[in-house]
Amino acid sequence: MTLYDKIAAFYDPWSRSVTEDVGFYVDRALASGGPVVELAVGTGRIAVPIAQAGIDVIGVDTSPEMLAVARASAEAAGVAGRLDLRVGDLREPPVTERLPLAICPFRTLLHMETETEKLRALRAARALLEPGGRFVFDVFAPSREDIDETHDRWLEREPGIFERAVWDEASRTLSLSVRSGEEETTFGLHWLSAPEWLRLLDSAGFEVEELYGWFDSRPYHGEEDMIFTCRRSRLESSA
Ligand SMILES: C[S@@+](CC[C@H](N)C(=O)[O-])C[C@H]1O[C@@H](n2cnc3c(N)ncnc32)[C@H](O)[C@@H]1O
Repeated sequence: MTLYDKIAAFYDPWSRSVTEDVGFYVDRALASGGPVVELAVGTGRIAVPIAQAGIDVIGVDTSPEMLAVARASAEAAGVAGRLDLRVGDLREPPVTERLPLAICPFRTLLHMETETEKLRALRAARALLEPGGRFVFDVFAPSREDIDETHDRWLEREPGIFERAVWDEASRTLSLSVRSGEEETTFGLHWLSAPEWLRLLDSAGFEVEELYGWFDSRPYHGEEDMIFTCRRSRLESSA
């Protein structure tokens, strides 16, 4: 059982307020012409709206329970035929197709514990792309205020759904616990600075076209959120 299997039933209610990224990724999918691969597709929070916009999506995730929710959502939305859901790890995605766009929304690359694993994930994403294809993803690095306001406190994020953030600034790890009723899970998010991401992307063979600070495409100026739009460059660095 994966860490997300335990919270699949209440992942959508838990993330109900996170809507700012949906239009951003749908617009990127439409611009690419599709099909799109979503790495760590989860419950289809982003993939189902992309499918509703008329773009086919291959969705990869390690959690069968999250994928089951995605399948049900796609069926309810009448777009099950546009969603191809596959159990697998984003570092070795079960995808042989080559596509114009890969996405990895909602900070998911931070589940990769080390820089080595992050680089592995970036290289795997690059390998899925057609020449000139794009990889778009978002991550974050916490602000001082965020750490001070939330550290080690259970907060009711949605009715009956509680969340606790334990920040370890030395290792740059957030241990995030989510609880509803009897079910609880804790997962780690391992953040990096923008310059560190830029170095990894260069090593993985990406040219960074844009680095935004929010989903309205404002340029990044040290905000918590970082949204990268990268293009597969001609050569992969050997670094
Ligand atoms: C924060 S959720 C994001 C889901 C979806 N992309 C969204 O925006 O709502 C993170 C997802 O990553 C998946 N995941 C975690 N590690 C993974 C890995 N190594 N390979 C594939 N999926 C992974 C989890 O199962 C979970 O569905």
